[in-house]
Amino acid sequence: MSLINCEKHEEEIEEIEAALEGKYGDVLVTTKAEVLDIKERIKEDLKFAVSEAALDCFIYNRLGMGKLAPYLMDDDLEEVMTIGSESPVYILNRKGKNIATETYLSEEETRELIQRVAKYSSRVVDSVNPLFDGRLPDGSRVNATYSKVSPKGSTITIRKFGLEPLTVLHLLRYGTMSPTLCAFLWLATEGLDKKPANILIIGGTASGKTTTLNALSSFIPEGKRIISIEDTMEINIRHKHWVPMETAPPDQEGRNEVTMDALLKNTLRMRPDRIIVGEVRAKEANTLFTAMNTGHDGCLATIHANNAREALARLQGHPMNVPDIMIPALNLIVAQKSIMHKGEMKRIIFEVAEISGKEKDTFLLNKLFGYDPKTGKIKSKIINGKIIRELSGFSGLSIRELDKEMARRELVLELMMDYNLTQKDIHMFIQDYYKNKYDTLEALHDEIKSLKGVRKIEEKSDSINDWTESFSVIE
Ligand SMILES: Nc1ncnc2c1ncn2[C@@H]1O[C@H](COP(=O)(O)OP(=O)(O)OP(=O)(O)O)[C@@H](O)[C@H]1O
Ligand SMILES: [Mg+2]
Repeated sequence: MSLINCEKHEEEIEEIEAALEGKYGDVLVTTKAEVLDIKERIKEDLKFAVSEAALDCFIYNRLGMGKLAPYLMDDDLEEVMTIGSESPVYILNRKGKNIATETYLSEEETRELIQRVAKYSSRVVDSVNPLFDGRLPDGSRVNATYSKVSPKGSTITIRKFGLEPLTVLHLLRYGTMSPTLCAFLWLATEGLDKKPANILIIGGTASGKTTTLNALSSFIPEGKRIISIEDTMEINIRHKHWVPMETAPPDQEGRNEVTMDALLKNTLRMRPDRIIVGEVRAKEANTLFTAMNTGHDGCLATIHANNAREALARLQGHPMNVPDIMIPALNLIVAQKSIMHKGEMKRIIFEVAEISGKEKDTFLLNKLFGYDPKTGKIKSKIINGKIIRELSGFSGLSIRELDKEMARRELVLELMMDYNLTQKDIHMFIQDYYKNKYDTLEALHDEIKSLKGVRKIEEKSDSINDWTESFSVIE
């Protein structure tokens, strides 16, 4: 969208508004496709001709995100941020560069946009409730603050989501994990349907925790009853039997809050096979670990912590208060961070650890995979740790057979990585893999090539070549 001078169309815009009589009052339009669609619908509703420019202005400024709209439609951006009327709108591109734009929003414009998103999310934001978390129709996460708590002016921060969520194949292509590590996490998440692992994904702000959580969730077998719990819904998976749940903030009188802990307790009465918790922060940690200790396997969650040791300390301390005795039910800690690599931001899994025991008051951690900053690669340190030995016990397969299964999955991932498969395709292939539909890799290959619209990705990035060179299949 190029910037239009809407002021000179104000008269026409008001005519459009009056003629529509509030018909699209609850709509929030943020994507190009939605703009085109609503434009056609409005044209049909109006009994008179209007200029395209006036219609665009009406859609962007009355139904959309106004001056922020062009940034929200740019797929190369990761975050759109405002500071206050004296500062420009900032954008963060996918390479990690923070850029000041030439766009300024007045306090009034900022509040108008906040109110539009709040209305769409059925929430109240005002001086009494100055903090807001919500989302746009395309799933992008929105945080807003009123100037009562941000003295430079009300703010908006939008974590943009692409139309398609990042999948395991993206994470492999971006070098966030290697095919070997991914195959291991695949086996752990699924657990051969006998012993799915309880996994905690940890990392700092915007290190990609939720994205990895979502990508790993794609390994859960179809048919499981999955319940996800988040403050703002970000999980996006293809499973048919999935119940997403969201917390509810207190109302204006400070009542009727539905906390994550309350939702999690409720979830335990909903007969879940798999529980996914986005961002464990407080009391719900204790409830989650109680669940893990009472037979709920395959719980996946994220937590804000810089490394495995720190994550354990946070779990044990206030306000999470997970008793020591419950900690070993956690099978894996997957630690992620953002690093600058060849001048670009890159997210990597830098440590995968399991709790192997306890000495006096300290839990012992087995580092299964670790990042080597010298080579820029993640190395497999201990292949057959406790989790693989336990899985062997539960499944009746020998360690050697499990190693072979991981090697097979690694090849499947490498094969899929060569193609532009969508989240839907990947879901189908993973689920078919469980049904033993592909007894040979050739069978899978033929099926991939027979898909409509599938293309081979010719150019692999450096990071993929790095990974594939550095990892050999387990013999
Ligand atoms: N592995 C990755 N490679 C490249 N970009 C990624 C990767 N993972 C996530 N991203 C992008 O980084 C941004 C932050 O990701 P995400 O929301 O998953 O992080 P987070 O750690 O959950 O953040 P927060 O702490 O705010 O909850 C998103 O825009 C996402 O598209
Ligand atoms: Mg997150």
